[in-house]
Amino acid sequence: MRKYISVIALSLICGASASADEGMWLPALISERIGDMQAKGFTLTAEDIYSISQASLKDAVVLFGGGCTGELVSPEGLLLTNHHCGYSQIQKHSSVDHDYLRDGFWAMTRAEELPNPGLGVSFLEYMEDVTDKVLKGYEDSMTEEERQALVKKNSQKLIDEAVSGGKGLEASVEPLFYGNKYYMFVYRTYTDVRLVGAPPSSIGKFGGDTDNWMWPRHTGDFSIFRIYADKDNNPAPYSEDNVPYRPKKYFHIAAGGVGEGEFTFVYGFPGSTREYIMSEGVRYISDISNPFKIALRTMRLDIQKKYMDEDQAVRIQYSSKNAGVANAWKKWQGEMKGIVRLGTVAKKQEFESRFMDWADGTEYEGIVPALDSLYKELEPYMYALDYYNESARTIELVQFAQRASALASAGKDSALGAVTDAFFKDYYLPIDKEIFVAVMNSYRENVPADFRPPYFDSTLAVYGGSVGKWADALFSTSVFCDRKAVEALGADDTLALENDPAVEFGREFSSWIGENIRPAVNRLNMEINLLNRDYMRGQMEFQPDKVFYPDANLTLRVAYGHIKGYSPSDGVYYMPFSTIEGIMEKDNPEIFDYNIPQKFRDVVATGDYGRWGEDGSVPVCFIATNHTSGGNSGSPVIDSRGRLIGINFDRVWEGTMSDIEFDPDFCRNISLDIRYVLFIIDKIGNADHLIEEMTIEQE
Ligand code: ARG
Ligand code: GLU
Repeated sequence: MRKYISVIALSLICGASASADEGMWLPALISERIGDMQAKGFTLTAEDIYSISQASLKDAVVLFGGGCTGELVSPEGLLLTNHHCGYSQIQKHSSVDHDYLRDGFWAMTRAEELPNPGLGVSFLEYMEDVTDKVLKGYEDSMTEEERQALVKKNSQKLIDEAVSGGKGLEASVEPLFYGNKYYMFVYRTYTDVRLVGAPPSSIGKFGGDTDNWMWPRHTGDFSIFRIYADKDNNPAPYSEDNVPYRPKKYFHIAAGGVGEGEFTFVYGFPGSTREYIMSEGVRYISDISNPFKIALRTMRLDIQKKYMDEDQAVRIQYSSKNAGVANAWKKWQGEMKGIVRLGTVAKKQEFESRFMDWADGTEYEGIVPALDSLYKELEPYMYALDYYNESARTIELVQFAQRASALASAGKDSALGAVTDAFFKDYYLPIDKEIFVAVMNSYRENVPADFRPPYFDSTLAVYGGSVGKWADALFSTSVFCDRKAVEALGADDTLALENDPAVEFGREFSSWIGENIRPAVNRLNMEINLLNRDYMRGQMEFQPDKVFYPDANLTLRVAYGHIKGYSPSDGVYYMPFSTIEGIMEKDNPEIFDYNIPQKFRDVVATGDYGRWGEDGSVPVCFIATNHTSGGNSGSPVIDSRGRLIGINFDRVWEGTMSDIEFDPDFCRNISLDIRYVLFIIDKIGNADHLIEEMTIEQE
């Protein structure tokens, strides 16, 4: 084991030849990259980025709500993230009477800031290489199960020690490079986080799903929160007595403008990438799973849209759900195209054949063919599981029935009440029923009989083979369609609930999949992971001059690059900046996604942009070459002097395959220019009190 670890340590340090701007680097090891960053224009030090002995930029960055990033911008705990990251909070505070999604929300006093139960933000206290500690007691003779049990036990001990000493501490131990390395991440989590401001969706989601994942972009995708702490600045549950959190560090804002070619650095929490998997793994994604997942989601989106267009109340109910479905749907399309254009599968095959030649006679011999056959064995099971997840598992009534029946049987009345309220607030049965018919028909057509539960076929037979008739019955007889009936449920109804058609549907599917599909998927994935550990190490030995970065896993990373346009296709060049002129060009009251608020039009008509203007306009978004992924939403985009110039919120469509292969010619992250954020807070929100809290540098 030792031998391999030192090989990896070496390859992390030497060799500066990672291809241009690719990479998501661990902050604790940033001293290995700082020379390159400085050569590209950065003027601060590694300690300024990450330090455990002094305040550093990492102390101004948070994991927001377990899937996004946010940054501190005032000494009083003010935090910026994306509108789409705060979306479900904004949505939960909205109703037809006060529709903050539609109209925006601006707390004019601290008392008006809105608490969000369930929302937390986490600061990284420190990260540490714990490989030796986690593998303490490991012997080569151990099976993978034994190794996993050991890793789990040792990790738990480290975690327990790490969190014993303070309020709000949380820790996790994560494998990097497929378990060739382990790092512990220790966080401090604050749970009193209040909504302070959000532009109307017509600004915050301007362009909607039409422009999502695309450039040129004009989305004002930001929202504002504030972290509250107890009197000692420690994490505390929501209380009126809490006070604004005082950060160790907050970003100063550079409002003097940014130019093409300038250095940028994105500091945030990318969720998941798979840069080192073999060709078969990529082929499954681009040729099989992305296409059918896209097709299923197209149906769901069309159905949702039809009803949302008919009724404002339904639009509010389904806005957040719809955006969630649409987002991955569009990303997968770009990703597929990118993989095909780059020829990733063929390139990987070619790499694998060179690797195999090199591996001949070494301990890495045979890994590639073994992986290949495992992937082939996995494919039908993975397909069945993925198909189930994107069809049967998406039925809202079924999900609700399963949760609610469990709570009712356990006699948990108050939890049942809360779940029931939340469900019916945003439920519209005709959408769910129509989706049931569409996706279950596809399920029947596309999933081979051996890979679907016999329950499915036998129930279908009861309805003469008609999914529609099945839906008619299920959506009229299930008790879970009826709010009053659900509220009246108690522990004595357990028996009746077991026979409820929605409960039965959920139970039969999940237990059959659990018994017949999941075990194979888990076993094969475990074997693949195990081989990937060797394959990863082999790749590192095979390419000693290449600099490797660990795949994203929702831990804090540094990505750096520069502001740059790109050419999406022959004869077309995209400039790296957009301005409010582009908003006015797209503006159209007839098109939901492009209907900018009247107030915005009025401000633009005055031409008074205050300090935020540049050359008679206001900059809105820019693109750069930083390697980012899902989870980097809301990340601070930082200039050469460590100041905030923007908020990351997206990638360009032609570059979304960067989770699998990064192409410097096409991969661009999309950021909101911080001047547009300030312009909206100032001129649309009239919330100057927020701007006064910030430190704004005009030069
Ligand atoms: N594509 C961005 C991301 O992956 C933004 C998503 C939210 N916006 C939307 N229109 N669905 O999260
Ligand atoms: N919008 C994405 C997010 O929610 C970021 C875009 C990306 O995937 O790079 O994290």
